[in-house]
Amino acid sequence: MEHRRLSELERAAKDPSSPGGFQQGAPTMPWPLLLPPLLLLLAASGAQTTRPCFPGCQCEVETFGLFDSFSLTRVDCSGLGPHIVPVPIPLDTAHLDLSSNRLETVNESVLAGPGYTTLAGLDLSHNLLTSIPPTAFSRLRYLESLDISHNGLAALPAESFTSSPLSDVNLSHNRLREVSVSAFSTHSQAPALHVDLSHNLLHRLVPQPAGTGLPAPAIQSLNLAWNRLRAVPDLRDLPLRYLSLDGNPLAAVGPGAFRGLAGLTHLSLGSLQGLPQLAPYGFRELQSLQVLDLSGNPKLKWAGAEVFSGLGALQELDLSGTGLLPLPDTLPLQLPALQSVRAGQGLWCRRLVRGGAYPRQPGSSPKVALHCVDTRDSAAKGPDTL
Ligand SMILES: *[C@@H]1O[C@H](CO)[C@@H](O)[C@H](O)[C@H]1NC(C)=O
Ligand SMILES: *[C@@H]1O[C@H](CO)[C@@H](O)[C@H](O)[C@H]1NC(C)=O
Repeated sequence: MEHRRLSELERAAKDPSSPGGFQQGAPTMPWPLLLPPLLLLLAASGAQTTRPCFPGCQCEVETFGLFDSFSLTRVDCSGLGPHIVPVPIPLDTAHLDLSSNRLETVNESVLAGPGYTTLAGLDLSHNLLTSIPPTAFSRLRYLESLDISHNGLAALPAESFTSSPLSDVNLSHNRLREVSVSAFSTHSQAPALHVDLSHNLLHRLVPQPAGTGLPAPAIQSLNLAWNRLRAVPDLRDLPLRYLSLDGNPLAAVGPGAFRGLAGLTHLSLGSLQGLPQLAPYGFRELQSLQVLDLSGNPKLKWAGAEVFSGLGALQELDLSGTGLLPLPDTLPLQLPALQSVRAGQGLWCRRLVRGGAYPRQPGSSPKVALHCVDTRDSAAKGPDTL
């Protein structure tokens, strides 16, 4: 059978306009007309059966397509103990679950054999891994999703994942103190990569050194929440769109902190430990930022009106649970794209533009204000305009 990758198939099954899907030639058909064939497709896809499997493991076969033209096997060998590796798997295995087996090591000979080369997903979470040899995943040439969360990893070798076209790597809940960005470099034309490094001991992220010959990793979303970072790490050259630094002991966000992150659209700085200071112009580089979350920082205070300077694309601002009250009148003028602000305990504000005189008089500006409601008792109290 033709080997096709899991996500590709799932996309084809869900997306009626994709070439592998059903609605070829009729992408503009209105929904009601689409429904009957779509239902047929859903009924035919994702049908599950079990099949004979290595003792202790569960093998589930999912079939896709009208005539079950594609099948994918998910092999669950979780919770069996360290003797389970190396485990033989069926040739069409798309996903292998080796979680909760008290595994202390994995290496390329454990992750090799028929079925492994085409594996798209591997779950090694909840084991006892403290290190990984740099070549451990070298034979998994189609691996897209790797979960190593809840282990005891203390280090990550540079170029650990170069052989795999990864799109999701979960390294959360380990003991990593320092990670080099080049650990995520890859030889293949990499798709967007999502990396979860939350709940580690990171105090430093080492930028990719110049002249490695490898392109900068295509990390599009990066979760660095709940680590030991005291400063915003240098993430230049990464095509980042989503970044979370929640729960870190960041001391300050000053000018230049987000240098090189002009493509960032979502930034989360919630529940920062310590005494965070927002310096004027600290967010200046984030010209594409649409969502900024500063919630859960009760000690945060205004450091002047220029704090949010430069955030020309910002639509949503979350200041709930902070000391940033009252909101300055000039906020909607400073942030021309702002649509909604959360503040205090349950205050929700939306942009309100009052009809100005046209043609506009020289020197007059349109009346833009924030219209706020208290979402805790909005029924009892009338809306306030700040
Ligand atoms: C790989 O790990 C297994 C145990 O998990 C071990 O028996 C084997 O010797 C290792 N192979 C190499 C090449 O290190
Ligand atoms: C990573 O794993 C943790 C723990 O298993 C989980 O809570 C988290 O949602 C995962 N992250 C992603 C991006 O899936």
